[in-house]
Amino acid sequence: MTTQEAPAYPISGRMFERAARVLPGGVGSSARAVRAGWAPYPPFVASAQGSHLTDVDGHTYIDYLLGLGPMLLGHRNAEVTAAVIKAVTERGTVFGLPHELEAVAAEKVCDAVPGVEMVRFANSGSEAVGTAVRLARAATSRPLILRFEGHYHGWMDTVYWSNHPKLELAGPDDAPVPVAAGAGMAPGVGDSLVISQWNDVAALERVMAEQGNRIAGIITEPMMLNTGCIKPVPGYLERMRELATQHGAVLIFDEVITGFRLARGGAQQRFGITPDLTTMAKGIAGGFPVAAIGGKRALMEMCGDGRYSHSGTYNSNVMAVAAVSATMDILARPGTYEHLDRLGARLLEGFSAAAARHGVAHEVQGIGPVGQLWFTDAPIRSYRDAVRHARHDRFAFWWRQMMDRGVMFHPSQDENLFVSTAHTDADIDRTLDAADEAMAAVAAVGPV
Ligand SMILES: Cc1ncc(COP(=O)(O)O)c(C=O)c1O
Repeated sequence: MTTQEAPAYPISGRMFERAARVLPGGVGSSARAVRAGWAPYPPFVASAQGSHLTDVDGHTYIDYLLGLGPMLLGHRNAEVTAAVIKAVTERGTVFGLPHELEAVAAEKVCDAVPGVEMVRFANSGSEAVGTAVRLARAATSRPLILRFEGHYHGWMDTVYWSNHPKLELAGPDDAPVPVAAGAGMAPGVGDSLVISQWNDVAALERVMAEQGNRIAGIITEPMMLNTGCIKPVPGYLERMRELATQHGAVLIFDEVITGFRLARGGAQQRFGITPDLTTMAKGIAGGFPVAAIGGKRALMEMCGDGRYSHSGTYNSNVMAVAAVSATMDILARPGTYEHLDRLGARLLEGFSAAAARHGVAHEVQGIGPVGQLWFTDAPIRSYRDAVRHARHDRFAFWWRQMMDRGVMFHPSQDENLFVSTAHTDADIDRTLDAADEAMAAVAAVGPV
C-alpha cells in the first residue's frame, strides 16, 4: 500500500464506527485517538504474541508500541500468564485483606530498585503519582510541587499541567507558567505548581534559590519520555538531587516508563542517583495493570502509621501481585538487560544510519530498549526545542511508511519506540530493511 491509497483497514473501520457510538472517540484513552495521530482510525487488534501484533484486517506487525510500554516481556509472556492463572485459580482475586503473595512481590521490588525500601501497590501510574505528590506535601508541610514542561505524570489534577502546553500560553522560556492540560481542574491547583524547563541547571538553581523553602517535592521523569525521548544532560539529575537535599524537598523519580526498563533497578540504577520516592508502572507486571509507589522507609511508613491514608480496593489484588512476582523473577535472569540494550542500540543506530544514508536531518535519542528518532536539524534538549525544531509532518510520513511495511509504533514523535525481551535480531533486521526503504521515501518527498 502507498500513502496515496486508502488504508487497507476496512474491518477496523467498521469496528471503529461501532465503537464510536458508545465509546467517546471510539477509543478508551486519548493516546489511541484519531487526533493522537491514528488517522483515519486506529487499527483494531486481533491478537498479539511475543514481539508481534496482528490487526483484525490481517496485517501482522513487529510491535514497538508494546501497549505504550507495559509489554516489556512481549505479549502474552507464558510464565506471567501461568502465574496469574494459578494464583487466581488457587486463591481468588480480591479479599479486602492481606495475602502472602503481596509481601513476596513487594520484597522482589524492594530488592530490584535501589531507592525503594518499602512499597505500596496501586493500579495505574496516575494513582501512584497522585500518592507520591501528596505524600511529599504531607511529609514536608509545604505547598508547592516543582514539575517540568514536557513531562507527563498522569491525569490527576495535581500534576496534569504543562505536559504539552501551547507556547503562546506557557510564558517566557526562563519563567514558564502552569498551563492546564484540559478543562475541569479544581480551582487554584495551578498555584500549587512551579514549572521549569527541564535539562536547564541554571533554571533549576534559580527556582530552588527563590522558592526552595516552599517546595514540598520535585517530580521528574529521569529521562524525558513523554516528549519523544530526551536524555538528561550530564550533571543535571545529580544537581537536582543535591538541590532537593539542600532545600529539604522530596525528590520523586517518576519511573512509570523507565522503571525496570533502563535497568532492573530503573533509571536510578542506570544513572546512579537515588530519589526519595519512586513511582513505577509500565514494565512492573508483564502487561498486567499494576503500579507501585516506593521509597525511603521514613516516608513510606507514613502510609502505615496513619499520618497518610493510602487506599484502594484493588491495590495488591491477586492478579496484580502474581504478575509482579513472576515479572521480577524473569527480569532478574542473567542476560536480560544485555539483550534489551543490544537490540535497542541496534534499532536506534540502524535508524540513524538509514537517515544518514538518505541525507535526512535527524537525531536519535534513547537508552536501552526505549528511544525515538527525531526529524530535526537542531538538537532537542527540552520540550520547547521539540516544539520549535521537531518535524512532526515528516515523522507522520515516516510512520505511515513503516506501518505499511509491517512495523508498528505510535504515530506521534512525542511517544517512543519500545523493544521487549521477546524481540529478536531477526525482528531488528526486518525493521531496518523497512527503515531503509521508508527513509528513501521520506527523502524523496521534500527538502531535508
Ligand atoms: C512517566 C509517566 N507517569 C505517569 C503516567 C501515567 O500512568 P497511567 O497511564 O498508568 O495512569 C505515565 C503514562 O504514560 C507516564 O508515562
